[in-house]
Amino acid sequence: LFAPRAVTLTSAAAPCSVDSGRLRAWVARLFAAAGCGGEEAEAIAASLVLSNLYGHDSHGVALVPMYLDDLRHGFAVPGAAVRIERDDGALLTLDGGRGFGQIVGRQAMALAIERARQHGCAVVGLHDAHHLARIGEWAEQCAAAGMTSVHFVNVRSTPVVAPWRGTDARLVTNPFCVGVPREPHPLVLDYATSAIAVGKVRVAHAKGVPVPEGMLIDAAGRPTTDPAVMLGEPPGALLPFAQHKGYALAVMCEVLGGMLSGGRVQDGTHRGGVFNNMLSIVIDSRRLRSGAEQEAQIAALERWVKASPLADPRAPIQLPGEPERATERERQRQGIPIPAATAAALRAEAQRLGIDDPPFARQEQ
Ligand SMILES: NC(=O)c1ccc[n+]([C@@H]2O[C@H](COP(=O)([O-])OP(=O)(O)OC[C@H]3O[C@@H](n4cnc5c(N)ncnc54)[C@H](O)[C@@H]3O)[C@@H](O)[C@H]2O)c1
Repeated sequence: LFAPRAVTLTSAAAPCSVDSGRLRAWVARLFAAAGCGGEEAEAIAASLVLSNLYGHDSHGVALVPMYLDDLRHGFAVPGAAVRIERDDGALLTLDGGRGFGQIVGRQAMALAIERARQHGCAVVGLHDAHHLARIGEWAEQCAAAGMTSVHFVNVRSTPVVAPWRGTDARLVTNPFCVGVPREPHPLVLDYATSAIAVGKVRVAHAKGVPVPEGMLIDAAGRPTTDPAVMLGEPPGALLPFAQHKGYALAVMCEVLGGMLSGGRVQDGTHRGGVFNNMLSIVIDSRRLRSGAEQEAQIAALERWVKASPLADPRAPIQLPGEPERATERERQRQGIPIPAATAAALRAEAQRLGIDDPPFARQEQ
């Protein structure tokens, strides 16, 4: 996932900005030209652009070159759908067949929601999906159907994260996600278990600034703030977040997301491409507490935590999911910023596939 082929996020040059609708339409044309079906191409484009709108640029259109590279090499399979491998009512194991995460992830959650309606809850393992992108998207799909959900994810890709007390990379970023329905927007906890995202290390490197302490080790396992270590050969590693706590959660993402899903844990055998395995627990939570009671309890919690005097008056207390909505409002108004390196990489893909240039100005060159 973080190999140099995917590096399109960083640039010292000023970004240009683009309207989300125009960007979505153009990305869909690109994937259609690359061999995806029309609906598939639109689903991939909508998912990536939504990540940008929510402020998670590491999981937005900067991933396009990596996705297309995996498509060319057969690691991502266009037109693939989930196949039910084991069916035990409330328990399902699904083979993603290396289909795009935007397709097989959505199909898997639709099945999970259906089973949770029948049984009160469902545990669904999806293995061998291509990249599932922003995991919060799957929690949001569940929440839109009134379901609370928990997702444990492993990533089969080149390791970038060191185990706590280790000195080299053994894990990938193992995202963990919880979604709770709420009007008008769900609560969504959705983050990697590494202390810092690789994309942010690359930004620091491009700007020539250090990363904060406690996030990186160099190739010899020594703590460092120098982002260049992630681009070295051999590379350094990211540390887990919150010391042993993030590491222990990452291990559980491997065990539940990698093993119980029917997929594979990180074991040094991965060769090429980016795959996700995910275990999702989907709960028809209105069968535990009525929707009104849930709303009232969450509102009470929100009032209580937000009454805490602010440490910094410019930084409000928020609930999980709120920062994304705030960024979405801003980017719907002002457009999505596209760094020069991303713009150049997208333009190169357009030329390769013989479609029109991306819909942003050439000012960044
Ligand atoms: N598919 C994969 O293999 C993969 C791997 C790693 C990460 N990811 C995705 O990358 C994205 C970014 O991950 P990240 O680790 O950089 O996320 P992050 O560190 O930006 O954390 C985001 C989460 O923290 C919450 N949050 C942020 N600020 C908050 C505040 N002040 N108060 C309360 N909550 C707050 C957000 O609402 C969100 O739930 C995620 O969507 C994740 O799923 C995917």
